[in-house]
Amino acid sequence: MSRPKISLIGGGQVGGNIALLSAQKELGDIVIVDIPEAENFMKGKALDISQLLPHDGYDAKLSGTSKFEDIKNSDVVVITAGFPRQPGMNREDLLQKNLDIMNNVATQVKNFAPDAFVIVVSNPLDAMVYAFHKISGFPKNKVVGMAGALDSARFRSFIAEATNLSSQDVNCMVLGGHGDTMVPVSRLATVGGVPLFSLLSEEKIKAIEDRTRFGGGEIVKLFGRGSAFYAPAQSAVEMIESFVRDKKRVIPCASLCEGEFGVDGYFIGVPTVIGCGGVEKILTFDLNEEEQNALNNTLTEVEKTVLETKL
Ligand SMILES: NC(=O)c1ccc[n+]([C@@H]2O[C@H](COP(=O)([O-])OP(=O)(O)OC[C@H]3O[C@@H](n4cnc5c(N)ncnc54)[C@H](O)[C@@H]3O)[C@@H](O)[C@H]2O)c1
Repeated sequence: MSRPKISLIGGGQVGGNIALLSAQKELGDIVIVDIPEAENFMKGKALDISQLLPHDGYDAKLSGTSKFEDIKNSDVVVITAGFPRQPGMNREDLLQKNLDIMNNVATQVKNFAPDAFVIVVSNPLDAMVYAFHKISGFPKNKVVGMAGALDSARFRSFIAEATNLSSQDVNCMVLGGHGDTMVPVSRLATVGGVPLFSLLSEEKIKAIEDRTRFGGGEIVKLFGRGSAFYAPAQSAVEMIESFVRDKKRVIPCASLCEGEFGVDGYFIGVPTVIGCGGVEKILTFDLNEEEQNALNNTLTEVEKTVLETKL
């Protein structure tokens, strides 16, 4: 049996780190695809990562290219191609530029890797994953967006910091769109099984929710140029791993909803089971009125951006 083939479309900050982390987890052989002007840089990144692997004895083949035909027979394709935010920008401000890129990328992926499981990372995420699905015509179980994994990890890290407990024991989720209206579901958050509301005051929890919603922006401001990449890369890697190892992890992902949580026809962050079948299932549960209202609000924002794609 050969190793899974993982193709990364876009080998910038997020793509490059996905290559590194995937190789260190021995998830498969990795092809990094970028624009012709960046081809040598991608070959260099692939070589550099290959030369790090002997230290700990990881086995993976890496290559860099600008030719989409090199993604043939990919098991997984991760799309990070596109512009990141700069200070003062919303994710939605990236729509037109990144939609042009997505038009090209989705067509190429359809031509050369029609059976792959595709994880979209480019922003604005909910619109980009929708666009990929429309342009490629891939089945809904083979297309998913990465956002909730990252937003939930941010939520987890802030809870761990505030409680001074291990982030490993924090269990929580963020649903909805990947924007300022995302929905951290504090009611269901626990640390080691203990409800969050018995560990922190309502006021403190509210502050953590707000910091989570603007977590990406906080980093954009600190960087002064570009957006977060280490945690986004690790979040995508978690999804790749669940697919190639058939782990059936439950990860908040932008999945195509057809009635779940009252959402129909849009990709939005919901608890998603990822296994060898791709998106195997969306897990649903009863939201309270406040949570459902918050989800409806985030859906309105997602709908607006999706409408602008005119797809
Ligand atoms: N969903 C999330 O949670 C999340 C988190 C972080 C970043 N992002 C998004 O991911 C994207 C990438 O971020 P980054 O920091 O890696 O940016 P980056 O600028 O470092 O990398 C983007 C790469 O895409 C390449 N590219 C552009 N057009 C391409 C094409 N047609 N084919 C192949 N490659 C192409 C560029 O040359 C560049 O190397 C951005 O849109 C960013 O907003 C999303």
